[in-house]
Amino acid sequence: MTAHAPQPGELPYFSEENSVEAVNARIGPNTDPRLAQMMQLLVKHLHAFVKEAQPTHDEWLGAIDFLTRTGQKCTDWRQEFILLSDTLGVSSLVDAVNHRRPSGATENTILGPFYVAGPPRRAFGDTICLDGKGEPLRVHGRVIDTAGQPVPGATLDVWQTNNDGFYDVQQKGVQPDMNMRGLFTADAQGRYAFASVKPRYYPIPNDGPVGQMLSALGRDFNRAAHVHAIVAAPGYETVITHIFEPGCKYLREDAVFGVKHSLIGNFRRVDDPARVTAAGFGASAFYWDVATDFVLAKARG
Ligand code: BEZ
Ligand code: FE
Repeated sequence: MTAHAPQPGELPYFSEENSVEAVNARIGPNTDPRLAQMMQLLVKHLHAFVKEAQPTHDEWLGAIDFLTRTGQKCTDWRQEFILLSDTLGVSSLVDAVNHRRPSGATENTILGPFYVAGPPRRAFGDTICLDGKGEPLRVHGRVIDTAGQPVPGATLDVWQTNNDGFYDVQQKGVQPDMNMRGLFTADAQGRYAFASVKPRYYPIPNDGPVGQMLSALGRDFNRAAHVHAIVAAPGYETVITHIFEPGCKYLREDAVFGVKHSLIGNFRRVDDPARVTAAGFGASAFYWDVATDFVLAKARG
């Protein structure tokens, strides 16, 4: 057989060696440039993976079956593909490349699927815990800029699981609506405070293909104990972040790679009866005190 090298303007035939060029050469001249760039890179890295891993036909079919089941698990309230992205570290990486902040500014981490827009507005110091379960917690501090100046009027949208490890939206009719959620506003000095309960670790949804993948890999299902916060103010970059509980055994195994060293909170147990009474936790013998400042970077452009 004579080799038919492509003539100028002719598309190449496919071979193992030139597979990337053969596929990418088909992209039309009127394709959106960003789409073309992304697809060229995707094909390049996907083909490199196949050439290195050399999957058998059955392994390839197994991967197709896994992705099919991942899609089939999705509903209006269950997004198995995002969970796959989370557990492969992709969500955290996309977040990281999009939120490179100046030194000293509070770091972002993933939003997660249990955020609910429009939480109840609450007053300085109010509690977000409506079911009364768990060890009392007081979170307080300031919202400041990278020069240390207060950001009055900044909003803090906070949420977490209850002491049973579930978000209210996972237990409709069991927990009060908007349990463990609240919107707070920083005062004229940038100060904020809210009460809650000590967060606990909890498993991510694991009854689908992602759970099977984690089991097959010997990986844990749990998220390290945390409180979520979105801190926002006009003229500043919005921060989507967490406060992690330092004693949690899953800090280094967080199933979705959300933990950053700077986000591990300063939890102190307060047993002094006078301070416990002053904090207003009723009959409770102790509470957890967490002092956390949120540092906002100026919005770019
Ligand atoms: C969460 O923190 O709420 C979360 C994040 C990713 C996957 C599942 C839950
Ligand atoms: Fe969470």
